[in-house]
Amino acid sequence: MTQHIDTSDSADPLYVVILAAGKGTRMQSSQAKVLHKIAGRSMLTHVLDTATGLNPSCVAVVVGHQAEEVKKATPADVLWVEQAEQLGTGHAVQMAMAQLPADGQVIVLYGDVPMVSEQTLTYAVESARQGYVGLVTAEFEDPAELGRIIRGKDGAIQSIVEFKDADEAQRTIKEINSGIVAAPAGHLVQWLERIKPNNNQGEYYLTDIIAMAVADGITVEGIKAESAAEVTGVNDRAQLAELERLFQRRQALQLMQQGVTIADPERVDIRGQVTADQDCFLDVNVVLEGSVHLGRGVKVGPGAVVIDSKLGERCQVQAHTVVEGADLGADVSVGPFARIRPGSVLDDGVKVGNFVETKKAHLGAGTKASHLAYLGDTNIGADCNIGAGTITCNYDGINKNHTAIGDNVFVGTNSTLVAPLKIEDDAFIAAGSTVTSKVEPGDLAVGRAKQRNIKGWVRPGQRDKTS
Ligand code: UD1
Ligand code: CA
Repeated sequence: MTQHIDTSDSADPLYVVILAAGKGTRMQSSQAKVLHKIAGRSMLTHVLDTATGLNPSCVAVVVGHQAEEVKKATPADVLWVEQAEQLGTGHAVQMAMAQLPADGQVIVLYGDVPMVSEQTLTYAVESARQGYVGLVTAEFEDPAELGRIIRGKDGAIQSIVEFKDADEAQRTIKEINSGIVAAPAGHLVQWLERIKPNNNQGEYYLTDIIAMAVADGITVEGIKAESAAEVTGVNDRAQLAELERLFQRRQALQLMQQGVTIADPERVDIRGQVTADQDCFLDVNVVLEGSVHLGRGVKVGPGAVVIDSKLGERCQVQAHTVVEGADLGADVSVGPFARIRPGSVLDDGVKVGNFVETKKAHLGAGTKASHLAYLGDTNIGADCNIGAGTITCNYDGINKNHTAIGDNVFVGTNSTLVAPLKIEDDAFIAAGSTVTSKVEPGDLAVGRAKQRNIKGWVRPGQRDKTS
C-alpha cells in the first residue's frame, strides 16, 4: 500500500478517483486540458480542492497525456495513476482501482468538470454508503452528445446510453449523465472487470456499470445536480470562458452578500481568496488576486489590480493602480497610476499619488509622496513630505542599499537620495539635491551645483552677426 492511502482513522474509507488522462483535442492547446485555469487555478486543482472537502482516505488521479506536466503543476498529495493508452472511462477507473483497496466507497470525478459542489458529491457518497450506486445527473435543454439516462416505467434508473450508441428516441431524453458516480468499492471492482468494449466507439465505458448494478438488484439513485453549470465539462475554450464567467459571477455574488457594492458584477475578476468587511466598493475592471483582505469602507477604483495584500479601513486604491504584497493601514490613498510593490507597508493616512513606485518601503503615518517618485528599500517615518521626482538610489550595480528617513522630514522635489543613507527627524532637503551623506536632525541639506548667471550672453544663432 502506498503512503497516499490512509485508512487508519476510518472504518468506512472513501476513495476519490479523478479522471484526467484525456487529450482534450478541442482545446487546441499544447497544454493538458486539466491544467487550463479557471479563476487563476487549474481545473484539476478546483476538483482536488472540492474532493478534499469529502475527507477521503485517498485521492487517485488518472493521468495519461502530458502526465509529467500535470503532476509537476499539481503539488498535491495524491496517488498518481498512469493510463498510457486511453481505452475509455471504465478502463481508467479500473487502473485506479488496481492500486486501491476494494473496501469502503469510491466516487469518480473528472478533471475537466471543475464546478461540481461538495454538497452534490456528499449526496452521492451517502448513497454509496447505503449500498446503492449514487449517480449525478442533470437536465440539459440541449444535451448534445452527453450520455442519456434511461429510466424504467417506474421511474427507476435502468442504464446509461452514450449518444453515439443511442437511437432517435433515446436522443430526445434531456436527463444526462454527468459522469460522476459513487459506488461501494467491492461491487465496482467486479463490474469494471466485466465491461466489454462492444460499442460504437470501441471503448470501455464506465457507464456500463449502471445496467450491471440494476441486474445485480442494486438500486441506482439519481442525484440531480443543483445547476447545470455544476456538472458542465470543459471541452473547448469557449466552454472554459463560460465557466470562468459563471465562477466569477458566483464569487461577485458572495461578496455582494457580504456587503460589498460592485459597480458591475460582470466586470470584476477574483483569482484567489478575498475577504471584505462591509461597505466596500469595487469599481469596474477591478482584478483581485491571491489572498486579499479589504477592510470596512475600502474603495477600489476602475482598472485597479490588488494582489496578496491587506487594505485597512477606508483605504482608497484609485484608478489603474497595482498593489501587490502590501499592507495598507487605515485611510491610506494610493494612485491613480501608482505601483505599490511587495514589501510595502503604508501606515494610517499615508498618501501615495500618481506615478509613484514603492518597494520594500515602510511609510509612517501621515507621510505623503504625491507624485512621480521611486521609494525602494526604505524606512520613512511619520508626517514626511516626499517631493515629486524623489528617487531612492538603492542599487549600486551590485548590492541593494537602505535609506532611513526620520519623522517630519521634508524632501524637496527632484532629490536623489543615494543609499546607504540616513536622514534624521525634522531634516529638510533642498529641491534638486543629490544627497550622499547623513543629514542630522533639523538640518537643511543642499546638495546641488550653485546657479551662476552670465551677463550679456549671446545665443548661438546670433553669434555670427556680432563676430
Ligand atoms: C463521458 C460519459 C458520458 C457523460 C460525459 C459527461 C462514458 C462512457 N461516457 O463521456 O456518459 O455524459 O462523460 O461529460 O463514461 N478519460 C480518461 N481516460 C480514458 C478516457 C477518458 O482519463 O481512457 C477522462 C477524460 O480525460 C475526461 C473524462 O475521462 O476527463 C471523460 O472522458 P470523455 O472521453 O470526455 O467522455 P465523454 O465522451 O465526454
Ligand atoms: Ca467530455
